[in-house]
Amino acid sequence: MKNILVTGGAGFIGSNFIRYILETQPETNVTNLDLLTYAGSLENLKDLPDPERYKFIQGDICDRKVVDTILKDNDIDLIIHFAAESHVDRSILEPGAFIRTNIQGTFNLLEAVKKYWTDDAAGMRKDVRFHHVSTDEVYGTLGTDDPPFSEETQISPNSPYAASKAASDHLVQAYFHTYGLPITISNCSNNYGPNQFPEKLIPLMILNALNGKPLPIYGDGGQIRDWLFVEDHCRAIWTVITDGQAGEVFNVGGENQPTNLEIVDLICGTLDQLLPDSPNVPHSRLIAHVKDRPGHDRRYAMNINKIKETLSWQPRISLHEGLKKTIIWYLNNLDWIDEITQESDYSGWEKTNYQGRDNQ
Ligand code: NAD
Ligand code: DAU
Repeated sequence: MKNILVTGGAGFIGSNFIRYILETQPETNVTNLDLLTYAGSLENLKDLPDPERYKFIQGDICDRKVVDTILKDNDIDLIIHFAAESHVDRSILEPGAFIRTNIQGTFNLLEAVKKYWTDDAAGMRKDVRFHHVSTDEVYGTLGTDDPPFSEETQISPNSPYAASKAASDHLVQAYFHTYGLPITISNCSNNYGPNQFPEKLIPLMILNALNGKPLPIYGDGGQIRDWLFVEDHCRAIWTVITDGQAGEVFNVGGENQPTNLEIVDLICGTLDQLLPDSPNVPHSRLIAHVKDRPGHDRRYAMNINKIKETLSWQPRISLHEGLKKTIIWYLNNLDWIDEITQESDYSGWEKTNYQGRDNQ
């Protein structure tokens, strides 16, 4: 498979993935279809390696004409579908966009490829792939002593975001079972790393700490996530596409279980070390408990035995190493932060989500 369509490639993981593919796969051409919503930016795609193998198209995955034209003009034989509304807090405030992009948009892509990859005489092509990038949140939430989510865990989403991703996972599976469309799905835990939009926990805490602003911890901060450095996720996706069988689902994760408070403490400690002369040292004094996220999932944990045993993938970057790399990346990219926050009306989002979320 040589001609790749990446959807949502101007966002956090998609842009890291495009960089990863251009660096590691010299035979591939990449077309990036992205609407450039508040979460997508061409700032994430500057200085790409080997840029003549890369093409950007601004457009909507819900637009059938746009998708049909891209498939045909670029002879696409592999789609890696990242495009989505991805932030749980926004899905609680305005779920409509999540239904449209995550469900309707995925359906539109599936319909387009079903037609484009079906040969009148030979039926559905086997030498193509639709890879769907999904999340551990489709499995719902775990109690303290529950075993981690496996690929067999019942789908049980709790937020509008998670429900929309679960619906898209089901649609992708249905196109495999009904039409024989060669698909794979990866369900991954929380990513972090360069170019993550600052509304998500780790970049938010880094930026607020740098600016001496409060570090808003929802509720008691005892919620648990499994964190994976974005480059490890990119390598997992490529491994699933190249070595995984069509129709298969793989869980991906970092095999760690810190609470949110532990993550924020780690960020504060690393900043104290890197910026000993900052007036904000110790940064942990900025921690402020605020009103909890409604319906907040308590714990996610991933059983990644399947991808480890069948595809020999495992995370390479530990949480400590990855967090340090990430913090240093943000410190070295203050211009990126300025551009991103200005072009996306980030201060508007801060007001919407945090104003009135009184200290607890
Ligand atoms: P992101 O919000 O940073 O980026 C999403 C991208 O999709 C943006 O560039 C945006 O412009 C684009 N987009 C949105 N609507 C579009 C539309 N209608 N048409 C075309 N493009 C559109 O998201 P992310 O964190 O990079 O996540 C990427 C994918 O990975 C998502 O599907 C998400 O569900 C999944 N995922 C994310 C994580 C995580 O921790 N961030 C973990 C597991 C899975
Ligand atoms: O688990 C995978 C998912 O991880 C992805 O599918 C989503 O796209 C991605 O956004 C992420 O979802 P989360 O809700 O886990 O990520 P977020 O960074 O928003 O929050 C992480 C944890 O931190 C969560 O328990 C909520 C908490 N939090 C978050 C913010 C923004 C706070 O305590 N304070 C905050 O201000």
